[in-house]
Amino acid sequence: GQAPLLQGKKVVVTAGGTIERIDPVRYITNDSSGKMGFAIAAAARDLGADVKLVMGSTQSKPPENVELIPVQSAQDMYEAVTREWDDADIVVKAAAVADYRPKEVYTEKIKKKGDTLSLELVKNIDILETLGKQKTHQFLIGFAAETQSVEMYAREKLERKNCDLIVANDVTRTGAGFGTDTNAVHIYDREGLVEELPVIAKDDVAHRLLRIAAERIAGRN
Ligand code: PMT
Repeated sequence: GQAPLLQGKKVVVTAGGTIERIDPVRYITNDSSGKMGFAIAAAARDLGADVKLVMGSTQSKPPENVELIPVQSAQDMYEAVTREWDDADIVVKAAAVADYRPKEVYTEKIKKKGDTLSLELVKNIDILETLGKQKTHQFLIGFAAETQSVEMYAREKLERKNCDLIVANDVTRTGAGFGTDTNAVHIYDREGLVEELPVIAKDDVAHRLLRIAAERIAGRN
């Protein structure tokens, strides 16, 4: 029979949200359940790839038979992805990474006092943008979670972060985005729209996305 589409390929996937510590009992996170990234990791495994799943905060169960690399913060995620980067063939950034983290991480629980409390936040590293700058042979896939002007913002991120593909997610659509088992996406490359997928299972989005990536990698050699 035919060799599986991604046999011999190393696929790195990030999934879930990041956790940005405030103090020993509190943190900032987001609504990512990890399902989209898990679906991609499972699809890559089914297509024969060697899969590294860098997993932040999630509400659901990761797939079996993929190597799990649990992380908390954006900085941890950056370091984990960087360790897997050099020999990766495809890198998919489905994780919802916090753009900011608390400037100070308190070692003791913050005490209640006063009617207001301000937390100063500082910018996190943009993992995808940093990878985009270091890209050599890697096929880099970003996601864009948007609530307005989806195509414009997604294509702007594709350019700025030097991705090969970007998966644009209108997270205001029913059955799409955070927490659901389904998603509805537009996939873009530099030239424009590659594919529009209606509301379908995240597993099906994942398979379609990896097939496009596999075809494009094959077309390079
Ligand atoms: O996990 P689920 O509940 O299944 O939900 C899926 C999802 C909605 C989280 C997923 O489909 C999705 O859209 N993920 C990207 C969410 C996001 O952070 O989007 P963004 O537009 O803020 O970021 C754009 C890209 O840059 C993303 O690939 C992100 O991983 C990356 N990024 C962002 C900020 C940062 N500091 N570093 C990054 O690498």
